[in-house]
Amino acid sequence: MIQIYESSDALMRAAADMFVERAGLATAESGRFAVALSGGETPKRAYELLGSSAYRERVKWDAVHVFWGDERCVPPDDPRSNYRMTRTALLDHIPIPERNIHRIFGELAPMNAASQYESELAGFFEDGPIGFDFILLGLGADGHTASLFPGTRVAGEENRLAAEVYVAKGDTWRVTLTAPVLNNAHAVAFLVSGREKAEALRDVLSGDREGNPLPAQLIKPAGSLDWLVDSQAAALLGERD
Ligand code: 6PG
Repeated sequence: MIQIYESSDALMRAAADMFVERAGLATAESGRFAVALSGGETPKRAYELLGSSAYRERVKWDAVHVFWGDERCVPPDDPRSNYRMTRTALLDHIPIPERNIHRIFGELAPMNAASQYESELAGFFEDGPIGFDFILLGLGADGHTASLFPGTRVAGEENRLAAEVYVAKGDTWRVTLTAPVLNNAHAVAFLVSGREKAEALRDVLSGDREGNPLPAQLIKPAGSLDWLVDSQAAALLGERD
């Protein structure tokens, strides 16, 4: 479902509310909430809200297990680290046990970081299907999501749980969850903000790409798929024929 919010603030509150709702449902049902968070700039404000007094008490944090959809292959204290951004915005402000934080070891060589993360995933999901309760994703202006970038082999990876990928933009290696893992989630929400994403959002939602889908179009989860977008990002949606 596509939900358009008038402002970025309203969008971030909606994202925080959805997190709280999903966490409550999963915890009530199974006693835990396995979530994979997006990196980048967009979700930062939503994470800060979740760590604020207005939201902090609404989540049973000791039941929450935090993973990431992708990570840059940099040390955990590097300004480019998705883990560092999340720790600063959220993790340092909530009573979540350290054992519940499953970061990608960006300081390792990319292939080792990916393998280690696959082991972490397999161990947590007890060698069964990797079924996240909720995955929050962003959208790049080129239609990428997580670190599934257009034209990369990893975008079409069907067997691995996580994989390393070199991204020329920013000249970094990254580790990303693969599309099958993203698609096996119980619920997925894209969080898209800003006019610079309007073309990508229009292209992703308009569908037909003659067999050459944008990576974000590969995300068709078994469970629910929501698009939480602000009016700036939605500026061109009226153009869909
Ligand atoms: C990352 C993210 C990536 C992000 C998009 C959008 O590591 O950068 O996981 O997939 O969601 O690139 O990034 P912004 O939110 O910064 O626009």
